[in-house]
Amino acid sequence: MTVSIEKTINQKLETIFNKLDLDVRFALVKTSDRPDLSDFQCNGALALAKQLKKNPREIASDIANELQTDSAIESVSVDGPGFINIKLQNGFIADKIDELANDDRLGCAKTKTPKKVVMDFGGPNVAKALHVGHLRSAVIGESIRRIEKFIGNDVISDVHFGDWGTPMGMILAEIINKDGDLSKTENYDIAQISAIYKQANIRCKEDETAKETARQITAELQNGNPEYTKAWKHLRKVSVDDVKKNYDTLDAHFDLWLGESDAHQASAEVVKIAHENGLSEVDDNATIIRLPETNKPMPPVILVKSDKGFGYQVTDIATIKMRYDDLNADEIIYIVDKRQALHFEQVFQVADMLKLAPSTTLRHIGFGTVNGADGKPFKTRDGGVMNLEDLINMSKDKVRQSMPKANEVEGYGEKEIETLVSQIAMAAIKFQDLKNSIASGYVFDLEDFAKFDGKTGPYIQYAIARINSILRKAKANNLEQGSVIISNDDERNLALKLAQVENIITRAYNDKEPSIIADYAYTLAQTFSSFYNACPIMTASDKSLAQSRLKLAFLVCKTLKLMLNLLGIEAPEKMLKAA
Ligand code: ARG
Repeated sequence: MTVSIEKTINQKLETIFNKLDLDVRFALVKTSDRPDLSDFQCNGALALAKQLKKNPREIASDIANELQTDSAIESVSVDGPGFINIKLQNGFIADKIDELANDDRLGCAKTKTPKKVVMDFGGPNVAKALHVGHLRSAVIGESIRRIEKFIGNDVISDVHFGDWGTPMGMILAEIINKDGDLSKTENYDIAQISAIYKQANIRCKEDETAKETARQITAELQNGNPEYTKAWKHLRKVSVDDVKKNYDTLDAHFDLWLGESDAHQASAEVVKIAHENGLSEVDDNATIIRLPETNKPMPPVILVKSDKGFGYQVTDIATIKMRYDDLNADEIIYIVDKRQALHFEQVFQVADMLKLAPSTTLRHIGFGTVNGADGKPFKTRDGGVMNLEDLINMSKDKVRQSMPKANEVEGYGEKEIETLVSQIAMAAIKFQDLKNSIASGYVFDLEDFAKFDGKTGPYIQYAIARINSILRKAKANNLEQGSVIISNDDERNLALKLAQVENIITRAYNDKEPSIIADYAYTLAQTFSSFYNACPIMTASDKSLAQSRLKLAFLVCKTLKLMLNLLGIEAPEKMLKAA
């Protein structure tokens, strides 16, 4: 296993710190803010000076003097109040790159203490087509899922289907309204069920009695009414089958397809536990738990509604219990719209009060909305909610415009072009989403997101395809990869950039921020581009240089592919452009 450059220097510092009897917690470097001065810097002396009440420059000089003697180090200087600036020997960097090129994990060790992580993302609902609001949960969730797995955690993803609330009663009531009874339910497909749900929504908005009927039917369904249950099963199955197709297109993977309904039994147990601990009370016929007010108003949590049904909150609380009892979750991560932050705060508090999952870390990662050019949540032209499928189709149409037609390029018939169009469109959509920090919203920009230049998914795919072609050409000319030699600044910059992978993935993992990976992939592709403009491979001045550069190119390709994979994006072998 290759130890990354950064970690290797940290280890060297640690030895020195121990020798000088300094607190090793400060034996850390970071990539230099001043690449003109140094490759890495250590600011530990400043913190140590406070601790020891000594002059930081003095401490820094002692450390620098020791470090100076190391063969990996070209130069060390102490600057400003006590920053240690470190420049590495080219030979040391080159050796590390040779090691990385042979390492499938690119210097990223697996965690020694794997955790059981349950990921809750997706969150689709019965009878509702996935819309643009579901995009981010699936895209971010899938990327974090892949990062967690790469780190070595045991991950279980659960879609947490919305299949148990009042909308169920609304649909059943609407069918009864329309057909007189539920006998025809099993003939309805997803389009019909969605239309019925839309109709039900309109009716219940206008008509209080209709709403009341829907509530009653929901409560009866939850109490096991066989006729309602039979019809509901069909609604659920058709909906699940439909969203599965959508998630397949998005390449979002779920291990479990459980829903709110699966938490029914556990919800009853939660109500019992709350009652036995004297934590719940009955208010206006509903069973609730009051939470302490902090700096903001904290509404009570409803365990049982006045109609005796279970709602969104208690099913989430009960699901925590199940994930602890049945799955042994060490951590549960929710990727849900940040507008639900209060809901999760309440749910986590109740889980804590009732000690339902005492050793489980609960974490809500709230994302911002996908907006239109007006800065408001992205809508269709007539102001309706944008279906995810429509959005994907729009994106594909856009990408198709820049593709050759079927059979214009050898080996690319209709099917191959469509595969490529879809790989590029998904890369464009996902990268546009993931390049932003999760909490901020972003504007869905159909003009720029699929461009081959700029910070886009297709740009990275293109960079990979370009290197694939270099590698093919080298093979055809019998040029093999050789040991890395650093002969100029472009090679050096690229090598140092490549050496950052471990740091990048660790940060993305710790912060749960795929944007760190997206950003790195983009700058790596750019660094490669400058390198390749300045450093020819096939026509390099001598063979060992050509072989070294080929290895650098190979490693860039391998690294970019890993980065895209962690973002849930495919890397086609070849890319095409319309003539
Ligand atoms: N179905 C919910 C909605 O449409 C999202 C579910 C999110 N996950 C959760 N465990 N609450 O708002």
